[in-house]
Amino acid sequence: MKIALVGYGKMGHMLESTALSLGDEVVATIDVFAPDASVKVSAGDGAAVARAVKESGAEGVIEFTHPSSVMENIRALVPLGLPLVVGTTGWTDCEKEVAELAAKTGGTVMHSANFSIGVNLFYKIVEEASRLVSNFDEYDSAVWEMHHNQKADSPSGTALDIARRVMAGNPRKTSMVTDAFHSRPSPEQLHVSSTRCGHVPGTHTVFFDSAADTIELTHTARSRQGFASGAVHALENLKRMLDSGELSSGALYSMSDVFPGMF
Ligand SMILES: NC(=O)c1ccc[n+]([C@@H]2O[C@H](COP(=O)([O-])OP(=O)(O)OC[C@H]3O[C@@H](n4cnc5c(N)ncnc54)[C@H](O)[C@@H]3O)[C@@H](O)[C@H]2O)c1
Repeated sequence: MKIALVGYGKMGHMLESTALSLGDEVVATIDVFAPDASVKVSAGDGAAVARAVKESGAEGVIEFTHPSSVMENIRALVPLGLPLVVGTTGWTDCEKEVAELAAKTGGTVMHSANFSIGVNLFYKIVEEASRLVSNFDEYDSAVWEMHHNQKADSPSGTALDIARRVMAGNPRKTSMVTDAFHSRPSPEQLHVSSTRCGHVPGTHTVFFDSAADTIELTHTARSRQGFASGAVHALENLKRMLDSGELSSGALYSMSDVFPGMF
């Protein structure tokens, strides 16, 4: 299919080579800074992003930019009515607004904070582990993540999704704390902490800790390849399922919708 890439940074470049290797065509690479992008737009000019996508003849769009730009881009792109896959993180507070915009304009958005197949398997493993461990009061739990020092948001969207899985499996953990503690944590609080360093593409660990031992579950991304192939497959599936009527336009979808039965 013909794909427009909004954001031509580390992920944009990886998405381009992945899409080409899967037989898709990249008809536009749109960015505010990248010198090798096919279209340059000014920061904050969502209308120019939408115009560039429309003029490219794209059949679908993948957006990986920056937490400060993503909502402007979504607001401009959704009314085009093209299947839109968003990988940029840091906008979970706005999901209701995006779902309403999609319903109002008939546009379709699919989002995941992490497109890696391994991470989506990890979510399931974590929820099941948390359910098992929650049978034993002596175990506490926590989530930790580490990413490269260029990442703009923390904790990562993936860490928040992992924390939701821990809480879904353990009814004793009812609130998430993403800041530092300045007093002793209470047992119902789940601590989600972050480290930023060097070039790490993404490491997430869940700890289950008792006086006797620690169980650690870790997912380590080796490169951005897994995110890129997940996002391109998500867009291909979304378009196919919209064309066949399996999914309806005018909605905000997630991994479980475009990879049914898998996650
Ligand atoms: N969902 C996932 O699986 C996943 C995986 C990796 C990264 N991410 C997220 O994707 C985003 C991008 O990551 P990256 O590593 O490619 O970052 P990056 O900084 O390498 O690239 C982002 C690019 O977006 C461009 N940009 C910023 N505002 C723009 C706008 N309004 N219009 C067009 N381009 C714009 C920047 O100039 C830059 O080239 C981040 O939010 C990151 O957390 C998500």
